[in-house]
Amino acid sequence: RTPVARTLKVLDRALLRFRAAGETVALVPTMGALHDGHLTLVRQARRKADRVVVSIYVNPAQFAPTEDFSSYPRRLAADVAALAEAGVDLVWAPDTAVMYPDGFSTRIAPEGPALAGLEDAFRPHFFGGVATVVAKLFGQVRPDIAVFGQKDYQQLKVVTRLAADLDLRVKIIGVPTVREKDGLARSSRNAYLSAEERQRAPALYRVLADCAAKIKAGRPIRAVLESGRKVLAREGFVVDYLEARHAETLAPVRSLKDGPIRLLVAAKLGTTRLIDNLAV
Ligand code: PAJ
Repeated sequence: RTPVARTLKVLDRALLRFRAAGETVALVPTMGALHDGHLTLVRQARRKADRVVVSIYVNPAQFAPTEDFSSYPRRLAADVAALAEAGVDLVWAPDTAVMYPDGFSTRIAPEGPALAGLEDAFRPHFFGGVATVVAKLFGQVRPDIAVFGQKDYQQLKVVTRLAADLDLRVKIIGVPTVREKDGLARSSRNAYLSAEERQRAPALYRVLADCAAKIKAGRPIRAVLESGRKVLAREGFVVDYLEARHAETLAPVRSLKDGPIRLLVAAKLGTTRLIDNLAV
């Protein structure tokens, strides 16, 4: 049985037991509706630390009023069962009265990768909300390591900077994206896709892979991305962005010489917004 802490008092009691035994702690932050991507982060965490804590909290601060906060899938009982199966030691599932009690007045304002465009251009509230809740989760759990997915590549960079810039003494580990057999990145939001949209969704990954191959072969990046956007539009996507960036700084790149390149994409199929990314 995996215990579920819903208050700081219960969380502290469990953490004290781990620490008294001299054990290291890994944290895997999630918003629940867990799938194999999340469970892969858990497996990685188990390899790196003695104890694994998974947080489940749908963070209102990272959703705009027009976004899917209220419809975001919530299934705590099934999530806890899957985490117990995966050998997780503790689930941290605070509610909003615990996370943002009355009088809460502090918000982290990340810069650098958080202001590099991409997600920030379409969801300007997003990284401030993520950085604030992740800083709180780190303060609550005080983990030795924290595991994040490369699926949310810009988020991984923002969190890595957050930990370094605020001296949070937590080692951030990034785990490669877990995909369905047809290439679609696993995501809690895939559940929103109709059967017909689900059929078309893997085009997102196919276009990334195709663009990466062409760029590697020396074709001009701008033209490759322009044709990639057209293919996605033809497949029925409304493209927010398809861009090539420096893999570490997320600065725009114009040619292969500008450094290791990461392709990043966000596009809507119907009302569902999907994101993905791939190394060139
Ligand atoms: P959520 O979308 O639930 O994702 C939790 C973690 O799982 C993130 O680090 C994300 O990158 C990772 N993840 C999701 N799908 C993945 C996949 N297919 N392969 C590998 N990793 C995957 O990201 C968040 O929650 C929130 O923003 C959070 C960090 C919890 C802050 O609220």
